[in-house]
Amino acid sequence: MRGPHNILRLIRTGATFERTGAMGAVLDAMEAPPRLRAAARIVGWPFRWMGYKGDPNLPPITRAITALGPAYIKFGQILSTRADVVGVELADQLRMLQDRLPPFPTDIAKSIVEADLGQPVDDLFSEFSEPVAAASIAQVHRARIRDSGQEVAVKVVRPGIGPAFRRDIDAFHFAARFIEVLSPSTRRLRPRDVVNHFESVVSGELDMRLESASASEFAENTKNDAGFDVPKPHWGLSSRRVMTSDWAEGLPMGDPVALIAAGHDVSHIATRVIQLFLQHALRDGFFHADMHHGNLKVAANGDIIAYDFGIMGEIDEYTRRVYAEILMGFIRRDYRRVARVHFEAGYVPRDRDEAAFARALRAVGEPIFGADANRISMANLLAYLFEVTERFGMRTQTQLILLQRTMVVVEGVARSVDPQLNIWDAAKPVVSDYIKSSLGPQALARDLAKAAQTVGRYGPLLPQMVEQALWDRAHPEEAQLNVIVPKPVVPTWLVALAFAGIGAAIGLGLR
Ligand SMILES: Nc1ncnc2c1ncn2[C@@H]1O[C@H](COP(=O)(O)OP(=O)(O)O)[C@@H](O)[C@H]1O
Ligand SMILES: [Mg+2]
Repeated sequence: MRGPHNILRLIRTGATFERTGAMGAVLDAMEAPPRLRAAARIVGWPFRWMGYKGDPNLPPITRAITALGPAYIKFGQILSTRADVVGVELADQLRMLQDRLPPFPTDIAKSIVEADLGQPVDDLFSEFSEPVAAASIAQVHRARIRDSGQEVAVKVVRPGIGPAFRRDIDAFHFAARFIEVLSPSTRRLRPRDVVNHFESVVSGELDMRLESASASEFAENTKNDAGFDVPKPHWGLSSRRVMTSDWAEGLPMGDPVALIAAGHDVSHIATRVIQLFLQHALRDGFFHADMHHGNLKVAANGDIIAYDFGIMGEIDEYTRRVYAEILMGFIRRDYRRVARVHFEAGYVPRDRDEAAFARALRAVGEPIFGADANRISMANLLAYLFEVTERFGMRTQTQLILLQRTMVVVEGVARSVDPQLNIWDAAKPVVSDYIKSSLGPQALARDLAKAAQTVGRYGPLLPQMVEQALWDRAHPEEAQLNVIVPKPVVPTWLVALAFAGIGAAIGLGLR
């Protein structure tokens, strides 16, 4: 059943793009090779009549995608963060897609809550509102917990959306394979990776337990961040299809006039938005990757509240350190140093010319620093930086692209609140603090302690590993068979104890 269904879905997609006049624009934006163009037109054109008409008031691409349904809208939104795949122009158009749908009835939401939590809604909540917002995957109700009287937000997954998304994702996989077979040159664009990425994001959003887990980890990481708040999830009132969390009370970040009228210090708020985002990305390596206006509020006391943890970004510690050094190099306009860091990290192959690379970096940095303070953009800096590094043979990691795209959004939010904001001034203290704590002597001690702990953990196994290695060396013919375990000379437990002791001592000493 899958094959015919997928072919039909593919034809309907092509037909809808043809019918709405979006096909040409998409193929151009993706610089599709001739074979792929021909195939797309063959799939789409003769079947135009099968395509959805869509809303003629929308621009062609938005019109086609919206007509094809929620999975396509979501896919489009995620592609809008992948300018590396679809090009900057198409990414900008895709960003216009609105993930808003008519809500489903409150009674159905209540029956889902009841089925998942195993108790009638009226027993759990003393109030349960009509939906306050509805999107392709879930909708949100405002409620009050009966026992504690606390106000909460209850997010409920749309009925039937899981299977519907899975069917469409299946068709996307099919299309990706089809595109790769047809036009191997598009492998550079990694259509299959893109669909896999989409699938992992959507699976995360379809399972509210994962979103609750992200919320909880993020809240824990940021609990000491001044002026920042995250609604805590209520595990006992959450499940796969239901997420209950503290109600976030405040003014929408998207309404600067109301913020000013309420007496908030907008320039401070804008600075904090930038700083918090960088702090989460650099210090924790775990950042909110969907930080648009709709997911931020300002509480009466001026705290910034963030919610909606469907899309989070993660960056490993090594990459964070390297990038902090790179940013600092730019801030100090020391392009030689930025180049050095890239070479040392092995990001740029060693056979490239370091001086030429440093000059290319200067060409990225100088125009940005020469611009007016209120036009400087860190997101642009990163985008140009990735362009240069790719020219010098380095492939940018997906997580860094996600960071860069989120930075575009975060800068947009900050500027809309305070158009005069100087992003560098806001960023500098966070970057230099991070460098101090991650590259100074303290960091070295921490690294050593970690290494010692690891040795400590493997300690009990080490003597045996060493003996095995020595034995293998002395008896190569038997080592291949790997059947003989030699009898130890010193009792293993004694050596193990010694190693564990040394590991623990170093670990404790350095902590
Ligand atoms: N904890 C909360 N407190 C107050 N309002 C919330 C909360 N969570 C969600 N909302 C409201 O519901 C809307 C949609 O919720 P969100 O988690 O952003 O879902 P989506 O993934 O559909 O964007 C938000 O824009 C906000 O207005
Ligand atoms: Mg949201």
